[in-house]
Amino acid sequence: MKILGIETSCDETAAALVEHGSRIISNVVASQIDIHARYGGVVPEVASRQHLLTVIPVIKEAMAGANWQDIDGIAVTYGPGLAGSLLVGVNAAKAIALATGLPIVGVNHLEAHVYANWLEQSSPSGQGSEVRFPCLCLIVSGGHSDLLLMKGHGSFRALGRTRDDAAGEAFDKAARILGLGYPGGPAIERSAGAGTPCLPLPRAWLKGSHDFSFSGLKTAMWHLVQKGGVSVADAAASFQLAVADVLVAKTIEAARQSKVEQILLSGGVAANRTITRRILADSPVPVLVPPPHLCTDNAAMVAACGYHQFRAGNTSDYDLDVIPSLSLG
Ligand code: KG4
Ligand code: ZN
Repeated sequence: MKILGIETSCDETAAALVEHGSRIISNVVASQIDIHARYGGVVPEVASRQHLLTVIPVIKEAMAGANWQDIDGIAVTYGPGLAGSLLVGVNAAKAIALATGLPIVGVNHLEAHVYANWLEQSSPSGQGSEVRFPCLCLIVSGGHSDLLLMKGHGSFRALGRTRDDAAGEAFDKAARILGLGYPGGPAIERSAGAGTPCLPLPRAWLKGSHDFSFSGLKTAMWHLVQKGGVSVADAAASFQLAVADVLVAKTIEAARQSKVEQILLSGGVAANRTITRRILADSPVPVLVPPPHLCTDNAAMVAACGYHQFRAGNTSDYDLDVIPSLSLG
């Protein structure tokens, strides 16, 4: 079964062709980072207009070498994300479905991040899915820091989420404070490599809860930088360590309490090797983490998730609408 995935929820226009929910045939991502970098963050209206320009060329590139007759269905992200951006992908999917007669299914972007772990390139042996249920999913992206218990395909229960800034959002804001540019995660990781985590920064443990909070950490760093005399690399390293300490400890604790078989990491922040190495080292159960280019937004994960939706008999009608605040679990 071959599924075309389409993803336009934020600032990447992406399309991918995936077979059996695991083998990537094509995976095209057109990033808008350069366009938004000058504003220090994603400008929604600029993003949706850019998707409009790029979505057809990106889909054509993903389909190069394939015919519509080879495809079994179209999976498209319908939330969460920016309304104007989501609309472009959903309408493109509907137009193709109308022209080809193919079925479509709306995919939750957060669930799609988790399904990046089913892609062949994510499994240590390269042999496709090695996931065992129940598993604990940590989704850490620009908009979310969620801990979920996954009992089977499409079956999620929320255990904890952020009470303020998401982990990726904290990285982006900290990078702005340090003058490191957008997106902040990769910039902080690079800068941290040249520094020492020697600055005293707080950790919000929120004992007895699986929730996260990162806004206090960001404010504390702002005050430290305002006082002056702080090296950017040391501040970046200290910030990264503070985020890692909390993500690692809370994920491991949730895994122990919920007695899972595995931990699945996903989302842009899971591209951070300092954080993932720590979780891999400390976890009592096997940890799966996609390679960095499948942690950040892409359409292969959307196609992988769509494959399992189609297999479960789920399809969407032409009245599929976008849900910008869609949650999971
Ligand atoms: O999953 P994603 O590509 O898009 C959303 O769904 O939000 O995540 C983007 C977020 C950004 O906040 C970015 O700064 C962060 O992931 N990120 C990282 C790294 N690469 C991307 N954070 C820490 N370390 C990284 N290497
Ligand atoms: Zn994402």
